[in-house]
Amino acid sequence: MIRAFDALTLPLMRRLDAEDAHRLAMRGLKLIPAAPPREESPRLAVRAFGLNFPNPVGMAAGFDKNAEAPDALLRLGFGFVEIGSVTPLPQVGNPRPRLFRLASDEGVINRMGFNNDGAEVVLRRLAARANRGGIVGVNVGANKDSPDRVADYVRQIEIFAPVASYFTVNVSSPNTPGLRNLQQGDMLDDLLARVVEARERVRSSAGDTPVLLKIAPDLTLNELDDVVHVARQRGIDGMIVTNTTLARPRTLRSSNVDEQGGLSGRPLARLSTRMVAETYVRVEGAFPLIGVGGIDSGGAALMKIRAGASLIQLYSSLVYKGLGLVHQIKSDLLSVLRRTGRDSLSEIVGADAAQITAEDWPV
Ligand SMILES: Cc1cc2nc3c(=O)[nH]c(=O)nc-3n(C[C@H](O)[C@H](O)[C@H](O)COP(=O)(O)O)c2cc1C
Repeated sequence: MIRAFDALTLPLMRRLDAEDAHRLAMRGLKLIPAAPPREESPRLAVRAFGLNFPNPVGMAAGFDKNAEAPDALLRLGFGFVEIGSVTPLPQVGNPRPRLFRLASDEGVINRMGFNNDGAEVVLRRLAARANRGGIVGVNVGANKDSPDRVADYVRQIEIFAPVASYFTVNVSSPNTPGLRNLQQGDMLDDLLARVVEARERVRSSAGDTPVLLKIAPDLTLNELDDVVHVARQRGIDGMIVTNTTLARPRTLRSSNVDEQGGLSGRPLARLSTRMVAETYVRVEGAFPLIGVGGIDSGGAALMKIRAGASLIQLYSSLVYKGLGLVHQIKSDLLSVLRRTGRDSLSEIVGADAAQITAEDWPV
C-alpha cells in the first residue's frame, strides 16, 4: 500500500513548492487508519538509553515539529519518532521560501527557523496520545528572542517529562542566530548541568527520561573533544550526530546551492558518517549514538551503524524516495544480519569507526 501511495504521490509532490508538499504529506499522514504496526523481526530490536526500540530506523526531528502525526509515522514502520524542535512560545519562523530541494544532488536546504506551535499546544497533543505506546522523543530548542535560552530548555524538560520517551537538546540548528554557540565548552557545561538538574527534579513524578545531545557536523575536532568531554562528565545518555551543515560540498550541481540555511540529504552523508565515527571513538562506549545525515538506502544505514550509530534517523531522503524507504532499509539490514549469521545489529556498531577516522577528511 505504501509503495502504491509513493508511486501516486511522489511525482505530484515534486511539482509543488517544497513546503506546500510537506504540508500535504502531513495532512495525508493524519488520514492513515489506526492499524497496529506490523510485527518486526526481533533481530532488528535495539536496546539503548534504557528504552526498547522495535527497530533502529527513526523519523528525524523537523518533519513532525508539532506532534501532529507521531502515531501515523510509527504505524508506517518507524521504530521511533522525534517530534520538534519545540520552543516554549509559538514561533512563525523565517519568511518563505525557506525550504529548497536540491534535486540534482538529492539534497535539501532549509532555513525554517524553528517554526512551531509552542510547548503548550504540543504538550496537549502528546498528552492525548500518551497511552498509545511507541517511542516518541521530544526535541527542544530555544525561542529566537528569548532573554534566557538555557531557561527555555530547562522549562521544557520539566513540562514534557511526563510524555517524552526521551529528550533531545538541540543546540545545533543553524537557523536561530547564536544557537550553535551553546555547543562551546563552558556554555554547554552550564546548559547540560541545568538540564540534568531539571530532569532530576521531575524524576519522582515523571520517571527517568533519557537526555540526548544533538550536534552540528561543522564542529572542529577540538570542539568535538570538548563536547564529548562535557557530555560524559554531565552524564548525558546519548548523542545525535548530526544536524544539517552550513558547508557546501564542491560536488553540488543544483542551481540553488547558495540559498542560506542548513544542507541535508545525500550531500551530508559522508560528513555526518565521519562525525559519527569521530564521536564514537571519543565516547568510548559511555553512551550510544544516533546517526543521521543523508541516509537514503540500506547501505547508507549500514555505514552509519558501522561508523558507530546504534540507531539511525532520516528525513530528507523521504522527499526523493518516499515512505517505502523505511521498509526497504529494515529489510536490507535484516538481510545483512541473516547473511552474516548475526543475531543483532549491536554486533557491528562501530566496526569501521577506527578505519573511517583514518581516512582523508570528506570535502
Ligand atoms: C526541513 C527540515 C527541518 C528540520 N528541522 C529540524 C528541527 O527542528 N530540529 C532538529 O534538531 N533538526 C531539524 N532538522 C534536521 C534533521 O533532523 C536531520 O538532522 C538532518 O536533516 C540530517 O538528516 P537527513 O539528511 O536525513 O535529512 C531539519 C531538517 C530539515 C530538512
